[in-house]
Amino acid sequence: MSAGKIVFTQDQIRRRTEEIAREIDSAVPGGDLHVIVTLKGALFFAVDLIRALGREATLGFITASSYGSGTKSSGEVKLRIEDIGEVGGCHVLIVEDIIDTGRTLKTVIAAIRTMGPASVRTAALIDKPSRREDEIDADFTGFRVDDIFLVGYGLDCDQEYRTLPDIRSLDP
Ligand code: PRP
Repeated sequence: MSAGKIVFTQDQIRRRTEEIAREIDSAVPGGDLHVIVTLKGALFFAVDLIRALGREATLGFITASSYGSGTKSSGEVKLRIEDIGEVGGCHVLIVEDIIDTGRTLKTVIAAIRTMGPASVRTAALIDKPSRREDEIDADFTGFRVDDIFLVGYGLDCDQEYRTLPDIRSLDP
């Protein structure tokens, strides 16, 4: 496998991220904003998105993994929540790199809802609606794509390619 042609350039990602930040600024009410980054894939998108927001936020981290070493979901989402931060009473924004089956986001939202947030919203850079198994959509979406395996800008295949600056298809 190798990283193939560029699907989203750095410039496209930057511009879309800034647009999403403006959408979030207008949609999320005043009060405490707590941004939860789902590691590891969302790391790059989250950093750029948080810096583009027009307000301060506290930060938390959740590690969600279900893909192991393959390109297919194992079906079981493992969560580590010890660094999730203070969620109670806050407007929570969950940041994801990609929604595929929807299982990860559904599991993360369910976990956060048990912690007493004032509201929960989600931002995902990439959405693959054709792959959905759980009915769930992000409140803020970067790009909708067909069923192609993408790498780069946080997205991996077996932990490789995350540090590519753009998003590319994965060639066999
Ligand atoms: C990836 C990605 C999303 C999830 C989306 O995480 O970061 O969290 O899969 O897939 P789903 O909608 O089918 O659940 P992964 O488990 O590969 O961990 P990673 O973030 O460390 O890459």
